[in-house]
Amino acid sequence: MNKMAYTERGSTKKFFCKFHGWAYDLDGRLVGVPDEKCFNGLKREEHGLSPVHLQIWQGFIFVNFDRTPRQSLNDFLRPMYGELEGYPFEKMTSCYSWSAVVNCNWKLALDAFQETYHVSYVHGRSIASALLKSDAGGLRPLDGLCGEYHRRLSIAGNPKSVYGNPNALTSASNGEAPGSANRPIGEAAFALRPRRCALRRRAGGFAEGDQLDAASELGLRYQRSVSRFYLSTRPNYYQAYNFRPLAHDKFWFDARVYYPEMTTAGGRFYQEYMKVSLRDVLLEDLSTLEHNQAACATRAKTHMVLQDFEIMVRHQFAVIERMISAGQAEESRH
Ligand SMILES: [Fe+2]
Repeated sequence: MNKMAYTERGSTKKFFCKFHGWAYDLDGRLVGVPDEKCFNGLKREEHGLSPVHLQIWQGFIFVNFDRTPRQSLNDFLRPMYGELEGYPFEKMTSCYSWSAVVNCNWKLALDAFQETYHVSYVHGRSIASALLKSDAGGLRPLDGLCGEYHRRLSIAGNPKSVYGNPNALTSASNGEAPGSANRPIGEAAFALRPRRCALRRRAGGFAEGDQLDAASELGLRYQRSVSRFYLSTRPNYYQAYNFRPLAHDKFWFDARVYYPEMTTAGGRFYQEYMKVSLRDVLLEDLSTLEHNQAACATRAKTHMVLQDFEIMVRHQFAVIERMISAGQAEESRH
């Protein structure tokens, strides 16, 4: 057994194992074994590459490592993600990305992308002004929804800031991809803004299926998390982040941001501005998270306290605990 691919992209007619030179075709069949006769009747058909199940949703490829998946991707994503179908992902063809190994547990990291409570402080000098303050003065989400596995949060952008203005760059020349006969991106994405929903709160706090108050109808941004996958969609661009655990205190972070193809100098300048702005924001988040992990490791505190608008953080831990207990119960049956 060895690693079969060393680059993220490229083209090849065969895959070779760099240890003993076994060769596999593009269907994963074993097609070449040096000195094969010494294996005494090796059955090539039993030693192909191991298949994995994959399904595609709106252009995103999801891999399921279960040998026999218990659930289809659609069953897993809906109803939380169904409403996002129709967002013009296919028009956002210009991408930039960053990746990093971060010394922090992946769940703590995901927390920081599911609440806005930290924004005023951690991002006070960068993007805090890009979000719209609530009537109460804080940076509170407009609404949220907790599903069986996933959750979503909606936040209002401040139209007076470049970063938070959903109409930035929706002119005819740069609001849609060249040759598109469909609706402009801004309009198509606006159609997906969150509905006004009522606050329902039970005596014991928020629970699965509860909705958080939508204080205004200025829903400029959707954020959703599918376990380790995070999607943030805006009228004029979207972000897709992956949080891949490497160890209990280390994860690999991959952040990609997609825009429509920029066809004017102004469009290119806007994109570059957004790129460096987001880089600074991510650095603020990730460096804080490493200190967060180090502090947790001291065990000086046994609990984390959460306020109402950090409901998504609570939901994430509730889902993970439920899934771990279900897995443990299943293991104990075998
Ligand atoms: Fe942040």
